[in-house]
Amino acid sequence: MTFEIRIADSDVHFSAQAGQTVLDAALQAGIELPYSCRKGVCGTCAGGVVSGQVQGPARTEATPEGQLLLCVCTPQSDLQISPLSWRRIDPTARRRVQVKVFRNTLAAPDVSLLVLRLPAGQRARFKAGQYVQVCLPDGSQRAYSLANPPHESDTLQLHVRHVPGGQFTQIVTTLESGSMLDVELPFGQFELREASTAPMLCVVGGTGFAPVKSLLDHMLKKGIRRPVTLVWGARDRQGLYLPAAVKRWQQAWHDFRYVPAIEDAADAQALDAFHGRVDAAVRSLYADASALADHEVYCCGAPAMVTATRGACADSLGLDARNFFSDSFVPGPAHVDAAPA
Ligand code: FES
Repeated sequence: MTFEIRIADSDVHFSAQAGQTVLDAALQAGIELPYSCRKGVCGTCAGGVVSGQVQGPARTEATPEGQLLLCVCTPQSDLQISPLSWRRIDPTARRRVQVKVFRNTLAAPDVSLLVLRLPAGQRARFKAGQYVQVCLPDGSQRAYSLANPPHESDTLQLHVRHVPGGQFTQIVTTLESGSMLDVELPFGQFELREASTAPMLCVVGGTGFAPVKSLLDHMLKKGIRRPVTLVWGARDRQGLYLPAAVKRWQQAWHDFRYVPAIEDAADAQALDAFHGRVDAAVRSLYADASALADHEVYCCGAPAMVTATRGACADSLGLDARNFFSDSFVPGPAHVDAAPA
């Protein structure tokens, strides 16, 4: 059985198979709706259902009033939906490729810095901020943001946080130079708004640093010099695992501000960092209730951290919620593989 899904106020429509989520059906049809975790955790995919019936899990904290999480809802009839935004994507741009481990080092005790090389003569096509799916032997996939900029297209750099008992964690710690991995790319819509000149506030937690590194390296390459404040949060000093990259931006960018935020009091004092969480750091940086009215905010990390930062920026500091761009990191496999057929 198939159902037809229409996007309100447009001529866009696509089909969903029985049991397929609205988001997966859209992606399969080459229509990208907002999403991040694809597991019903982050709330990024929330949208309206104007007409028709859907089945999905009970409402959670992540579900805004009057909306549904389109990554976990399956149609029970033809639908009309009103997502926050949508755009057409090129289904042929996504591909699966076998890559070779070039380097695998520990950037911190619980973070592997994995550098992968594409086969000779092949190039990856992606935008700064997007992610890859690493394909595991059991057929499941794990999402990792690309930390390198798109012009370094023969390479994929991943920052892999070790998750206790995590399937890819057990694999990544054994990978050596020359090991092979299957990956699929590109995914995601966490991207730089290149036409904008707004000041940027980048707020990242742990390995949420990776996609913002890609954005900032891309800006350096393209000569885009918007004012940037980077707030990078971690439990301790080892969590701020790539200081050389930050130093490079500080040297190359006259209007670049870096604010480390560390929860461990002794480490915060030793590094002269903000002591506490990133959302508290943001509140302490900007005193005025409209301080972020002209800003764009790029935020990556755990869902709770992204939610707290969104609240600090939009509720207390005047940010237009449409200018809050986020990528929530949720461990484990994606809900369903939604690669275009
Ligand atoms: S809740 Fe749907 S993408 Fe995260």
